[in-house]
Amino acid sequence: MARVADFRSDTVTRPSADMLAAMAAAEVGDDVLDGDPTVARLERRVAELLGKDGAWFVPSGTMANSVAIGSWTRPGDEVICERSAHMVQWESGAAGALHGVQTTTLHAPSGAFELDEVRRAVRLRSLHCPRTALICVEQSFMGSGEAAGGRAVPLASLRALHALSRELSIPIHMDGARLFNAAVASGVDVREYAACADSVSICLSKGLGCPVGSLIAGPAPFLERARLLRKRLGGWMRQAGYLAAAGLYALEHNVARLAEDHTLAKELASVLDGCGGLDATPHEVETNIVMARVLDPRRDAASVAGEFRAHNVLVLPMNERTLRFVTHLDVGTEDVARVLVAVEEVFGG
Ligand SMILES: Cc1ncc(COP(=O)(O)O)c(C=O)c1O
Repeated sequence: MARVADFRSDTVTRPSADMLAAMAAAEVGDDVLDGDPTVARLERRVAELLGKDGAWFVPSGTMANSVAIGSWTRPGDEVICERSAHMVQWESGAAGALHGVQTTTLHAPSGAFELDEVRRAVRLRSLHCPRTALICVEQSFMGSGEAAGGRAVPLASLRALHALSRELSIPIHMDGARLFNAAVASGVDVREYAACADSVSICLSKGLGCPVGSLIAGPAPFLERARLLRKRLGGWMRQAGYLAAAGLYALEHNVARLAEDHTLAKELASVLDGCGGLDATPHEVETNIVMARVLDPRRDAASVAGEFRAHNVLVLPMNERTLRFVTHLDVGTEDVARVLVAVEEVFGG
């Protein structure tokens, strides 16, 4: 069977043989009843890496974000987010449906908020208004296809936002699903980024190559509430040490190598940009995500994705005009060569 190059997401990776061996060898317990030693080790490790009091292991990034929103807010509150943030666009309305909070959205195509806009978005402290209870940032910022995806939001901008949040007494949650990508691309330690937020979620199941798992880290009082919400949402798992072992393995072996994914993404963006049918802004690609806009107004992203699929290349339409390509552990230069063949077939002649 012909190999299929799957660029839809960095979530499609399968655990390597070494990761599976680490999982098989994990020491486990019932985390809900007596605690699971490997989960506890992973939670301590992540808290230490992020410089937070602690962290909880949860099944997904969506749940980690939901736990954060629920922990910082009460029903009727409002949360400030970028308008295409994953929490706004791709989490099935969890903030409203599960926590009774509304979002107010700002437009920041590179993920870095204008401070004046944040200030203006904060509600009056009045019985008539919702309470502005949380500001959410995403690192790296995936975006919606309007601009390059996977941008590492600059540290200076996050620090300035953090200073503003102290002045306003509003906490910040960082959706760090791809925080390690941002750190590797920019050379900034994850701890430095995490210091700009009160709570931080990270995903193990994306660039780090684990099959499952996310963590939500923060200060002690937040963690108390977050633990209750994890339980309430059904995210407290039993012999989860098998999954946590994959996380510990990934943190040791799969972080520095993210640089290879970033190099491959730049290569891929050049191939796409050079094909004549797509605009992929290679100079703006910073991490492992390439957004490619379809130039021909008579074609849309879904139909082009269908044509790529016929050439064994899988990509994700993000909107009507934009395709997302993501590099990860399970694609390599030979897959970029496959894309080159596919773009010649799809756009050539
Ligand atoms: C930026 C961002 N946040 C959160 C998530 C949610 O992660 P999960 O799919 O594990 O729920 C994703 C998933 O792709 C993401 O890209």
